[in-house]
Amino acid sequence: MSAPERPATVHDRPGRLSVGVISAGRVGAVLGAALNRAGHRVVAVSGVSAASVSRAQRFLPGTPVLPPDQVVTRADLVLFAVPDDALGPLIAGLTKAAVFRAGQLVAHTSGAHGVSVLAPAVHCGVLPLVLHPVMTFTGRPEDLNRLAGISFGVTAPPQLRPVAEALVVEMGGEPEWIAEEARPLYHAALAHGANHLTTVVNEAMDLLRAAGVTHPDRMLAPLLSAALDNTLRLGDAALTGPVVRGDATTVASHIDVLTQQAPESVAAYLALARRTADRAVASGRLAATRAEALLDVLASSQKGTTG
Ligand SMILES: NC(=O)c1ccc[n+]([C@@H]2O[C@H](COP(=O)([O-])OP(=O)(O)OC[C@H]3O[C@@H](n4cnc5c(N)ncnc54)[C@H](OP(=O)(O)O)[C@@H]3O)[C@@H](O)[C@H]2O)c1
Repeated sequence: MSAPERPATVHDRPGRLSVGVISAGRVGAVLGAALNRAGHRVVAVSGVSAASVSRAQRFLPGTPVLPPDQVVTRADLVLFAVPDDALGPLIAGLTKAAVFRAGQLVAHTSGAHGVSVLAPAVHCGVLPLVLHPVMTFTGRPEDLNRLAGISFGVTAPPQLRPVAEALVVEMGGEPEWIAEEARPLYHAALAHGANHLTTVVNEAMDLLRAAGVTHPDRMLAPLLSAALDNTLRLGDAALTGPVVRGDATTVASHIDVLTQQAPESVAAYLALARRTADRAVASGRLAATRAEALLDVLASSQKGTTG
């Protein structure tokens, strides 16, 4: 990608910008409102579905809802917040329609993509930014206040770093610089942590319900909150339970009951128990000699699941 030129209008701290938001999804509507609150002005937003149009009305009242090409032509800063797979084709289509102009700031909010997805527009002279909020958005009003203090994974050409970081700070976030080539790893880490956490917690709630617990959420909340808090502060030292104790018989009984009553959970349990044991050994919390019986149980169960 050729290095974009820095226009006279873009300073280390951007002035009041006309912002176009494409589109009023869960993220776009909230970040648009945050930019308005920071003193910029959202001049147009796109959205077709009833959900997006109603989010635009809720978060950006009075803002014209227009097709994406018209949003682009009205804005100094165009914020793309569309599904990851839609972003590349959309940028390519709008570039073909010749709506971008040199010196325009073009940002997207995808965690998975870097600036390279904006390459066609960069060839027209736009200034590319990635401003990825590390938060889960549902498009509800409380999302706006949740921006305070969250990290944004920022990627941009070096000369645009100050403007990218200033926009994040203005929205209430904290910029964290992510190199273009590190974005796949960065995004894998976030998805592994946040999305798989949701799956593991849902599995635990289902198993507790099957065990007769009426309110698994209430039972788990204090335990899981403490585990998360301890892990974020203490790392591997937060680990408790049968794996780190080397209690092979207990782990074997878990695998037996899951095989009988929740066979769909066995593969994930085995993979996580194995990874937990490896981390416990590597961090010196489980002696290799005490790990042997446990690792044998996991290996023989693994063989059983793979036939
Ligand atoms: N939600 C999160 O927690 C979260 C967090 C951080 C980052 N992100 C990132 O933010 C981006 C948007 O995610 P989201 O959750 O806000 O998605 P979303 O709620 O599904 O909203 C997507 C928006 O894009 C519009 N859209 C879809 N295809 C389009 C196209 N081809 N052209 C123009 N507009 C199109 C949709 O409009 P219609 O409704 O009218 O179809 C909708 O307004 C993604 O890159 C995602 O990875 C999401």
